[in-house]
Amino acid sequence: MPDRKVIAVLGATGAQGGGLVRAILNDPNGGFAARVLTRDVNGVKAQEFARLGAEVVAADVDDPESLKKAFEGAYGAYCVTFFWAHFSPEKEMAEAKAMAEAAKAAGLRHVIWSTLEDTRMWIPLSDNRMPTLQGNYKVPHFDAKGESNHFFTDEGVPTTFLLTSFYWDNFIYFGMGPKKGPDGKLAITFPMDDKKLPGIAAEDIGRCAYGIFKKGDELIGKTVAISGENLTGAQMAAAFSEVLGSEVRYQSVPPEVYRGFGFPGADDLGNMFQFKRDFEEYFSGRRSPEFSRSLNPSLQSFKTWLTSNKNAFPLEDTGANS
Ligand SMILES: NC(=O)c1ccc[n+]([C@@H]2O[C@H](COP(=O)([O-])OP(=O)(O)OC[C@H]3O[C@@H](n4cnc5c(N)ncnc54)[C@H](OP(=O)(O)O)[C@@H]3O)[C@@H](O)[C@H]2O)c1
Repeated sequence: MPDRKVIAVLGATGAQGGGLVRAILNDPNGGFAARVLTRDVNGVKAQEFARLGAEVVAADVDDPESLKKAFEGAYGAYCVTFFWAHFSPEKEMAEAKAMAEAAKAAGLRHVIWSTLEDTRMWIPLSDNRMPTLQGNYKVPHFDAKGESNHFFTDEGVPTTFLLTSFYWDNFIYFGMGPKKGPDGKLAITFPMDDKKLPGIAAEDIGRCAYGIFKKGDELIGKTVAISGENLTGAQMAAAFSEVLGSEVRYQSVPPEVYRGFGFPGADDLGNMFQFKRDFEEYFSGRRSPEFSRSLNPSLQSFKTWLTSNKNAFPLEDTGANS
């Protein structure tokens, strides 16, 4: 199909971009073709995508010229930044700026920018309910993305601003899964009290993005927000208990306790959860699973996702409390 619309996908070998590449490859008659952007064209994941029919092109966000080249001739691009690779909001904003400039230079017709809220619009730096981090931020990995929105509008890039949600995959890969406490009981722990945490299977973000591209111009210039389900900690713990067949409790801790957990980024995530807790009405209200399902009919519920991934939670390994 010679006139398929090429989507250049950043982060294609990762979670969000990977989901989009798979969605495009799984729909060969959908009218789109995937261009995998990677720093390592010979990498295992890139080569696997090449075997499945994707074009693979070298690009490094730190090298804006490589990005411009990689966008050339494409119809659209999926732009996602890599905060946890460096923990620097300034670097993240530089990444977003380079993406917007490359999109403009290539004359792209539709870009999806994977963004998040600039929480300082709800909690100004002067608000002491949570500490200011890295000098100028409340939730650095949110604020830098929200602040970066203007790079796309300033350049006049036809953009859909995609507000994502907490990946349930964090329970597997980010050390947030059920752990045994001193009482020997399994618990998931985060500082949300009884408030809802919008979550999504990371794979579904890319599938929703594909749904956005398929809508053509309809969502250009719009901000859309996605989640798979908005659940309280107690509801997630109940699903864990049912699917794993072993009781898992939800343990809410104060945000300041979470910020003090000591792992890299604990302060950023403590503030993030507090923002989601204190502004539940906005944050959860903004993210609609029904809308997300309209973009991606195979959107997973938490229980569906957990059931597919239950072997990633070997109960005998959860006792270390590490
Ligand atoms: N975890 C969550 O719950 C959550 C929720 C919402 C949003 N987010 C945001 O999601 C973003 C990360 O997305 P992700 O989870 O999809 O990433 P990921 O799975 O960690 O994958 C990142 C991919 O980006 C590529 N990459 C890294 N640095 C690059 C560079 N300099 N130039 C070009 N490519 C580069 C890498 O590909 P190569 O090695 O092939 O080059 C890698 O495969 C973060 O900014 C995070 O804040 C996370």
